Amino acid sequence: MKPLVLGIFQYIGPNGTVGSAWQNPRDTSSDFTKLSHWTALAKRFEEAKLDFLFLADSYGFPALDGELIEASVREGRGIPQGDPMPVISALAAATTNLGFIVTASTTVEPPAANARRFTTLDHFTDGRIGWNIVTGSSGATAAALMGKELIGHDLRYDMADDYLDVNLTLWEGSWDDDALVLDKERGVYAEPGKVRIVHHHGPYFRTDGVMSMPPSPQRTPLLVQAGASGRGRQFAGRNAEAVFVGGGEPATVAANVRGIRESAEAEGRPADSITIMVGALFITAPTSEEAWAKHAEMLAMSTPEGAAAIYAGNTGIDLLALDPDKPIAQTRTEMGQSNLERYLGKDGKPAPLVRDILENFRRTGINGSVFVGDPGEVADQLQEFVEQTGVDGFLIQPHMTPETYDDLIELLLPVLRERGLARSEYSGATLRERLFPDGDAHLPATHRGWGFRAGREKEA
Ligand SMILES: Cc1cc2nc3c(=O)[nH]c(=O)nc-3n(C[C@H](O)[C@H](O)[C@H](O)COP(=O)(O)O)c2cc1C
Repeated sequence: MKPLVLGIFQYIGPNGTVGSAWQNPRDTSSDFTKLSHWTALAKRFEEAKLDFLFLADSYGFPALDGELIEASVREGRGIPQGDPMPVISALAAATTNLGFIVTASTTVEPPAANARRFTTLDHFTDGRIGWNIVTGSSGATAAALMGKELIGHDLRYDMADDYLDVNLTLWEGSWDDDALVLDKERGVYAEPGKVRIVHHHGPYFRTDGVMSMPPSPQRTPLLVQAGASGRGRQFAGRNAEAVFVGGGEPATVAANVRGIRESAEAEGRPADSITIMVGALFITAPTSEEAWAKHAEMLAMSTPEGAAAIYAGNTGIDLLALDPDKPIAQTRTEMGQSNLERYLGKDGKPAPLVRDILENFRRTGINGSVFVGDPGEVADQLQEFVEQTGVDGFLIQPHMTPETYDDLIELLLPVLRERGLARSEYSGATLRERLFPDGDAHLPATHRGWGFRAGREKEA
């Protein structure tokens, strides 16, 4: 088995994805409002040679029928959540190799603003930035916050395709590779004929403008996607170079992984042109007993009310208002579809009951799989999971800060390294080259964005 791609999941908030870790006396995550909290974590991840830090984001918040869900406020779950963009430059200055992937929704800001921000970040990180393209979880409340109507689920993805086209047009088409001259003697900054206004007139978005920054090391940031609904997978096949999938039953994750690779092939791309990582939480300790004790401690901080608030915020479905002894009756939501599909029953299996869904969600959180045991046991479990599912790596979910990371770095990583499952040195100058060592810093010719460069054939 080749070395796994290992990234860390975080959002600018005080918790992990299961329960309210901030309330534990050993946890320091309520310092999330301090820059030093983040720079210390980033340095630690870089020392451990982890591939990247992912900063999730959503403007959505847990509410039902126009009212905040009390448990969310009380337990600090879903609220608070800060803007991840401002912290990236500080983290880039504190590190030299760690990659950064940051979420930006296609339903919030105009696409050209997004394009310029990522170009600037790609410069400031020396090509270490990736964009997690989402249509936005908790869409209803995010729309309400922005004074907009919720856009239907599949339409959001149609619009996201068009949104990406504006970005690709600006990143790839506006400047030629040799446009930047920087000739101090002649006083020529850039060659006028090699910088141009580009045009995209799509069904939802248009631009007639210039990218007002010279091309950055990767030009287009590494394109990442998270959203595993059928339409989300289609979007991933067309656009993503890396995908985050939620964990869960290996058979379900395997089907998801197959679906993503097939949708890449349907777009004329190689199946392995997408690196797929699964959200997973590792609870480990020197002995199995200690690890299970930590797991019990985590569950004691995870209430059904807090879990239901997060579930409602993501899907719009209030599990506490449903009959606990029946499955969820609705099969479709205009909000996050993956976390509904996850519990509809698949492969001939009956759909779980609401009480079991709530308990499963309370124990595993929004992204899925929890591995518990001593380092050898956890390494065995994750190795088996990779064999069963075909994922390329893990997006490691937070729990206690910094304890979960100490355990990961000091206990689990050495075992993974012994087995050749984790890298011990960095390779690749840019984030794209780290994930795809056979390619270069720019989009490959098999990606539709390649054709957006001036003089190349743009996809019809
Ligand atoms: C590991 C992982 C990380 C994610 N990060 C985000 C995020 O930062 N912001 C967001 O809006 N959605 C994120 N999502 C996706 C949402 O959970 C949700 O599925 C998606 O936004 C809605 O798309 P869908 O209907 O295709 O599921 C993430 C999903 C996974 C599995």
